[in-house]
Amino acid sequence: MHPDLDKVLITEQEVQKRIRELGEQISCDYAGKEILVVGILKGAAVFLADLVRYISIPVYFDFMAVSSYGAGSASSGVVRILKDLDRPIEGRHVIIVEDIVDTGLTLNYLVQSLQSRNPASLKVCTLLDKPERRVAKVKVDYNGFDIPDQFVVGYGLDYNERYRNFPYIGVLKRSVYT
Ligand code: XMP
Ligand code: MG
Repeated sequence: MHPDLDKVLITEQEVQKRIRELGEQISCDYAGKEILVVGILKGAAVFLADLVRYISIPVYFDFMAVSSYGAGSASSGVVRILKDLDRPIEGRHVIIVEDIVDTGLTLNYLVQSLQSRNPASLKVCTLLDKPERRVAKVKVDYNGFDIPDQFVVGYGLDYNERYRNFPYIGVLKRSVYT
């Protein structure tokens, strides 16, 4: 384990097993259709890359990058689009792929933005969910793991752009960020 971590919360094996289940569930739910997965950069890139390899129906990718206005690590709910989708999504079956839903403010904004573009359907898939911290009411259709209110890194999640490459999810030591 990396010395900046308190503990490994979810092992590589557990992550992969759960993502396989999610991929199989999505393939089953959308059987006979094709889907567009929209990855939210950068955190969801690692998750999306593994998830699509467990999906057996036709799947297209697009990406968005967003940033929350506001001080520090607290999400303000005001979201700015840094990179929008390459193509329209009208009439398509869209799944937003996120790394983590915390307050839900980012996701709430994304759902509203994409819904207004008239997709055939819109669902949300997140690897991690911190339900204790929820502020905005958002429906998560596919969730890898509920986690406690602790700052986690790895598997795409970062602190100051570090640790994204870990194949597992770990709890960052407080001393690293205080
Ligand atoms: P909201 O609060 O809008 O924010 O749901 C979701 C975004 O907050 C970041 N976030 C984290 N990033 N470890 C991280 O590396 C965490 O424990 C964590 N909690 C929230 C993340 O960018 C996510 O997209
Ligand atoms: Mg993120």
